[in-house]
Amino acid sequence: MAERPSLVVDDVHIHYRTFGGRRPTGSSWMGAVRRHVGSVDLVKAVRGVSFVAHHGESIGVIGHNGSGKSTLLRAIAGGLPTASGAIWADGSTALLGVNAALMRDLSGHRNIVLGGLALGLTPAEIAERHDELVDLAGIGDFLHLPMRAYSSGMSARLRFAISSAARPDLLLIDEALATGDAEFKQRSRERIDEIVGEAGTVILVSHSMSTIRSMCDRVLWLDHGRLVADGPTVDVLEEYSARTGRPTARPTPRRTQEVS
Ligand SMILES: Nc1ncnc2c1ncn2[C@@H]1O[C@H](COP(=O)(O)OP(=O)(O)OP(=O)(O)O)[C@@H](O)[C@H]1O
Ligand SMILES: [Mg+2]
Repeated sequence: MAERPSLVVDDVHIHYRTFGGRRPTGSSWMGAVRRHVGSVDLVKAVRGVSFVAHHGESIGVIGHNGSGKSTLLRAIAGGLPTASGAIWADGSTALLGVNAALMRDLSGHRNIVLGGLALGLTPAEIAERHDELVDLAGIGDFLHLPMRAYSSGMSARLRFAISSAARPDLLLIDEALATGDAEFKQRSRERIDEIVGEAGTVILVSHSMSTIRSMCDRVLWLDHGRLVADGPTVDVLEEYSARTGRPTARPTPRRTQEVS
């Protein structure tokens, strides 16, 4: 079962075209700005990425700002065309992003219904999972208030609950766990374990190495749109730390239980 592919990404290139933009000239980015009327800038956001994910795997994606992580996830979710290459997913996908389309002026309850419908659940399925979802979100009476009254952590909880209620075969999470507190992280972790345990696949983008370390078995490292490493979490984070000089929050003997 663990060896059955759930996702194949084959030499994928993704480009953005921006029209008539402004581009700084000179050595400083604060320097003169020249308008390119009618010009087209081509951004090669993802450049020849290939990997195979399997049922039951939880995969982290790391890399610098602008390295192509969100772009790759959006393409896997079917929300962006590829310039070349192919993406094949076995089953349903759900993308949980920082900007998941929830309505700020509607209550949490209404967003549960709308979010569920947007993810392809039927009204009957939403009704059936409503209590479980409310419990997973864990924000109590705030569910009756418009979402604009929520803290960012509360919004994150609700987004996570809604998207995981869809029971996707492939759950894609883009930085959406970053704002949660320890209890939320624990709940997310349990939900991710559940999906993986049911032979689903989770792909998690995060700048938090401790989140990646605690939730993922395998890590993909993107750099300027290219896949520079793909392997067991410990190995890739070690290489990342060695090459970028960034600490990866690896537990040290000083942080073991008998001390804390
Ligand atoms: N809608 C867009 N139009 C044009 N260029 C874009 C668009 N979205 C992203 N890009 C560019 O594509 C590249 C990859 O961006 P992407 O958002 O995928 O990076 P990321 O790895 O998710 O970064 P971060 O860690 O900051 O979230 C960047 O150069 C970015 O400027
Ligand atoms: Mg991003």
